[in-house]
Order: sequence, then structure tokens, then C-alpha cells
Amino acid sequence: MTAEPSDLDSLCGWLDQSPTPYHVVESARAALTEAGFTELNNFSSAPSEAGFICREGMIIAWRQPKRSIARFAIVGAHTDSPNLRIHPSPDIRAGQWQQLGVEIYGGVLLNSWLDRDLGVAGVVITKDGERRMFMSDASIARIPQLAIHLDREVNDKGLSLDRHNHIRPVWATSSGLDFLSWLAHTSRLRADDIAAFDAQLFDMSPASIIGADESLLASGRLDNQLSCWAAIDALMRTQASDHTCQVVALFDHEEVGSSSRHGASGPALERILRVLCAPGTESQWSDIVEQSLLISADNAHAIHPNYSDRHDAQHAPMVNEGPVVKMNVNQRYATTATTAALLGNFASSAGVRLQHFVSRNNIPCGSTIGPLASTRLGIPTVDIGVAQLSMHSAREVCGAHDPSLLRNLLVAHFSHD
Ligand code: CO
Repeated sequence: MTAEPSDLDSLCGWLDQSPTPYHVVESARAALTEAGFTELNNFSSAPSEAGFICREGMIIAWRQPKRSIARFAIVGAHTDSPNLRIHPSPDIRAGQWQQLGVEIYGGVLLNSWLDRDLGVAGVVITKDGERRMFMSDASIARIPQLAIHLDREVNDKGLSLDRHNHIRPVWATSSGLDFLSWLAHTSRLRADDIAAFDAQLFDMSPASIIGADESLLASGRLDNQLSCWAAIDALMRTQASDHTCQVVALFDHEEVGSSSRHGASGPALERILRVLCAPGTESQWSDIVEQSLLISADNAHAIHPNYSDRHDAQHAPMVNEGPVVKMNVNQRYATTATTAALLGNFASSAGVRLQHFVSRNNIPCGSTIGPLASTRLGIPTVDIGVAQLSMHSAREVCGAHDPSLLRNLLVAHFSHD
């Protein structure tokens, strides 16, 4: 079994170019534009046959059917990953050290950010309203761990980090350097021109294939850019079908609950689906919704060899064994028996094996955009994802063969008519 090298090159390139949700949208925009999709700037204009709309960290793309629309085949995923974001007034002086104040975004595994060489990326808004993306091309910051000689019990008692004081990166030792000036220089602006910014730290290490058998992929942000890549790649590899409207919705803010303008609980996806249905009546809309399927794609937990007791033995996904169907009777995942069966049909037609995940009764599972989008839209939904270790670490790891398998499954979903 080998992964297509071109798939891994494509995915690794995507990950390395996408340190923030804004950059994920840029990666998707570049791929879709190259494939001939038309960018629309607002929701009111007539949708093109194959197009997309971007809003900050969110992008929604579609391909209309050749004939009348009978159903939507949607893939949803999220562009954001837990990380550390620079404060609006970040400059802190501590003796010889220049530091940056940061705020924690989402459920960060804080220890994983220590002793990494970090870059800064994000977006700057100028006083003229221009929006400019930036990404440092060198490591400029680091959160140094305390030496073991100054914390002798750390290995036995566990690392305890103060969420405010202990995660402040150092970024210089010379005085006279301030963040806004650095940002202006990096963005090719004058400091006076900058009205506001969103700057985020990221690990500079590029995505890599690892393991003696080259069977693993290590990178930051696999959760959930792997699914974003698979969704966009699947859409580009599919032809227009007769009656199915194919849609990819990549939302921001999943890691903080999805309640935002650009999150899965926001209005954007429904607005676009209704425009794509036009001039349908309410009864047509209801029929189309009933016939549709949303695949919510978000990474799953592979069984960890050092902590195998954290999984139910019967539902312990492995890497490189195919996408995982996530089920939870308490509706933390939106999968039902009906949608799981539908997905099984797509998997058979794509020649892809599926695995199943149910969390232990004494370890609550996470959630995804699946239940939120399904509740808002009423569209039947299935939650799936590629199995990985180290979820929410600054550097995660998954099977090198699984991204292609997920993409192939999504192609079968889009191709169903
Ligand atoms: Co996720």
C-alpha cells in the first residue's frame, strides 16, 4: 500500500503555506481559481456554475448540477487550529528579554509549544481598509522551557503551566524593537498605516513524512487542514453531476465552539444553499434538504500504543486503515444509522475501508461542526475523519496513506447522483 506521492506533496505544501485560517482560505482560493472556479464577492449575485465565496477564515465553494437540482452533497470541515495569538499591545520587557503577550486560542496542548522555533503569520488591516496577509519566513520567537535543575520534580509530578505567565514567548534581547514596527516591515507597510492586526504564532518546522517505513505524516494543524485539503481536492477531481449540487464549506472558529459569523453556527452556508436552490419554493427546499447529505470531516483519535486503555477495545481506530466513522448516541457527533449506511455505500464504491469510533462512557468525546450544521440546516449528516495522534499539539501525526483514502471517499460522495 503506498500513498500517491503527488497527494502528499500537495497536502504538505498546503500545510506549510497555511499557518492561519486566513492562509487556509488562500490555499483553497488558489487551488479553486486554478481549477476554473469563479470567486463571487457577495451572496446576492447569481451564482456561477462553479464558484466560491471567501470571508476571512471561511470559504464556501460549489459546483452546480447540469440539470435541475435534487440534492446537495456537502463536505464541511474547519480551517482553524488551537494556537497562540499575539495581544493588541504585545510588547513586554522583562530584564534583558523582550517578550510578546499572547492569548490562548482553543484547546491548546500548551506543553507542545515549548522549545519550538516559532514564526508569526496573520492579517493586517490598513487605515485605508486594505487587507494584507503576512507570514514570517524565519523563526522569530520561542517559549523556553524551565531547566530541569530549576524544577526537579517536573517528570514525576507533571508539568504545571500558568496559562498567562508561563507561555509568553521571548523574541528579542535588544531594546528598541517593537512588534508594530516588525509587523509593518514584514507587511511592507509603515507602522502608521496599520489600523489593526490578527497575528498568530506557528511552528516553523515543515510537514514531514516520518517513520522507518515512511508511513506517517507529522505536521502542525493536521486537525483540521487535512480534511480541508481532502474536501477541496475531491471537489476539483469530480465532474458536474446531473442533479447533485456539490458543496465544500470550510468554517472558522470550530475550536472555540463555532458560534460566530464565520463559524458553522453562522448564517453563511444556509444563505448560499438557498441562493443555489433559487428560484425554488419552500417545499422544494425541504425536499432537497431531505435528499441531501453533509459529511462533516474532522480528524479522529487513533489508539495510542502507550495509552491503549483510553479507547474502547472494539472501537480503537488505527492509522492507515481508512477514514473513521464517529458515532455518539448523545449527539456530540451527528451520525445516524441511516447516514452511516449511506456512507458505507460510498466507501464500497470508492474501494475504501471504514473504521468506527465510539468514545468510552467514562471519557467524554469532543464534538464537531456536524451536529451544529445539521441542527441549523436539517440536513442528514455523518461525522467522519482521519485517525491521528497528538490532537491539538503544535505538531500532530497521522498515517501517510489516510489523506488519499479520505479524498477518494469524498469523491464518491460528490459523484453520487
Ligand atoms: Co478538529
